[in-house]
Amino acid sequence: MELITTRIKGMEDVVPSEVHKWQTVESVAADVAENYGFREIRIPTFENTELFVRSVGETTDVVQKEMFTVMGRESKFTLRPEGTAGTIRAVLQNGLLNEALPQKVFYILSCFRHEKPQAGRLWEFHQFGAEMAGSASPAADAEMISMANSVIEKLGLKDIELHINSIGCPHCRAEYYKKLREFFEPNKDKLCPTCQSRLEKNPMRILDCKSEICKEIGKDAPLMIDYLCDECKEHFETLKKYLDEMGIKYSIDPKIVRGLDYYTKTVFEFITTSIGAQGTVCGGGRYDGLIEEMGGNPTPALGFAMGLERLIMTMEKQGCEFISPRECDIYIGSMGDAAGIKAASLVKALRDEGYRAEWDVMGRGVKAQMKYANKIGSAFSMILGDNELAEGKAKLKNMKSGEETEIALDSSFIDNFANIHTADMLASEL
Ligand code: HAM
Repeated sequence: MELITTRIKGMEDVVPSEVHKWQTVESVAADVAENYGFREIRIPTFENTELFVRSVGETTDVVQKEMFTVMGRESKFTLRPEGTAGTIRAVLQNGLLNEALPQKVFYILSCFRHEKPQAGRLWEFHQFGAEMAGSASPAADAEMISMANSVIEKLGLKDIELHINSIGCPHCRAEYYKKLREFFEPNKDKLCPTCQSRLEKNPMRILDCKSEICKEIGKDAPLMIDYLCDECKEHFETLKKYLDEMGIKYSIDPKIVRGLDYYTKTVFEFITTSIGAQGTVCGGGRYDGLIEEMGGNPTPALGFAMGLERLIMTMEKQGCEFISPRECDIYIGSMGDAAGIKAASLVKALRDEGYRAEWDVMGRGVKAQMKYANKIGSAFSMILGDNELAEGKAKLKNMKSGEETEIALDSSFIDNFANIHTADMLASEL
């Protein structure tokens, strides 16, 4: 029985009483993205495994240890571990780079990574992300960082630190990799088996390893920022000027390497201390080589993604406001078949006008119906019986104040209810 009544670890349900928190984050993020001129894109949940191996990189933890890969009839597919690879695939496949540049898209989607589940780290999690293709200018980096910052501000989050770094381009990385290999060589045998193989192929990945031993060995490793070529240095300096002018506070963290291989030049993370160890709520950066690597014309690009679970956890911890869930406007109770039919028709008319209205579909007695109206937090209630039908009027009760108003059940009902409802809303706003 347990197998069908227990969800898989690392996965979460969002129950109805919590869903307004998700709706808050998703609507704020989408609104900000649209203000910045980004349009929504929707992509498939799984892609050919090769897409992630080629873009995220074969020496990353994501590809080596964390992908959920399923066997189709003839080939392997992978549940997306992130949104960038699939989005860029879709941008290329649908010819979106032939439209006006920069091409700017955003997405809200689920991702899957087989990591050790803990608070803020799940097997299935959700990202709001944005990608911009076509601009090599540091102005675009500033624009992306500013947009992520706006989402964080609009959600009401406080004390989120922005850390930035530059991890250079293939040109300046060659020299840096040489230095890194020299640094790790004496301790090569102590590195975890994965990092031993990374030493030759991609030594910067060792700096991102989750093993405590590799972290300790790498703690004084040379830093990429000290080996930047003139172009990368200039790019980073100009970005800092933009951020200073825009009043966006940041600190330079030369230890950020990011866990995905496609990054070049600027990388950044927004970090909170409110939710424990998994405090990175947003990560992103430039990936100027990815589009070409995926078979497109060389096109600079960049983006970021935020973890929605982590954003919501931080909002809860910090007492941020969520959009209130919409409650019932009116419950129409009834006694007897004829009154039930009248209740059904009034409720239908109210709903057609946009009100949240409910009636008894359980065949309950009046007392139980009123208990239900209370439980669902209905703003108004009304009970119909033979007398009300005969007289053509009923008592509309304000459930908070207890005040009762007589209301006709004829064609004036909706307009009269609308006036009383609006007056009540205005009074509660005062
Ligand atoms: P990422 O840093 O791997 O970057 O993930 C972005 C965000 O997703 C993280 O900062 C975190 O908030 C959330 N996240 C990651 N893994 C988990 C997990 N297992 N459980 C819960 N939340 C998680 C990317 O995915 C890049 N595609 C971002 C990007 C877009 N770069 C350029 N464009």
